[in-house]
Amino acid sequence: MGCVLASASLSAEAFRHTITGEDLKVPETALPEGRDTEAAKHFLESGVNLYTEVEGCLPKGEEIYLTACSGCHGHYGEGKLGPGLADSYWTYPKNKTDKGLFETIYGGAQGMMGPHNDHSIDDLLKLIAWIRHMYTGEAADADWLTEEQKKSFKPFKPEEHKPAEGDQVADAGECKAAAAN
Ligand code: HEC
Repeated sequence: MGCVLASASLSAEAFRHTITGEDLKVPETALPEGRDTEAAKHFLESGVNLYTEVEGCLPKGEEIYLTACSGCHGHYGEGKLGPGLADSYWTYPKNKTDKGLFETIYGGAQGMMGPHNDHSIDDLLKLIAWIRHMYTGEAADADWLTEEQKKSFKPFKPEEHKPAEGDQVADAGECKAAAAN
């Protein structure tokens, strides 16, 4: 087995189901589209989301959030039927990492938290960027931000946010992966 594995590019550890630990077989089980964007490839190798705090990626992430998640987690992640996603408490501490949050969303957790692998990897990274953006806690506790991002991050204020609609989606600019560091 050594030869095949040794010649493959360095790949991160398997993505695992948050409750069962079962291998989620990412990317094989993901939608064919959106698997090989720059951000998706980088994420699969490193577990790091290059869309974090990229303004042009947030409207799409918000749109997916409002369609698929807010009914249970609240409009701004304040919690409803499901737990809050915008504070610094996590039932599953691994959700502080992009990889862990991806695993929970992609594979689901307990009860009503079903799998959400009907969105492409690239779209899930935009969704994760939006969830991180809604964070209301201290930047110091935000393990998903780089040291540089921690300096400029401002906790989310729902009352100051204008929902992404029509023109604003275009005005936010292009969704481009940030430079990896
Ligand atoms: C039908 C309701 C429902 C929907 C829709 C739903 N969730 Fe959940 N979610 C839950 C429940 C209930 C839990 C608690 C499950 C547990 O503790 O295992 C949960 C747990 C979670 C957790 C773990 C939070 C923690 O504190 O560790 C995350 C992250 C999460 N959901 C994200 C999402 C995202 C993102 C979406 C949209 C793609 C979504 N959920 C859609 C009900 C839902």
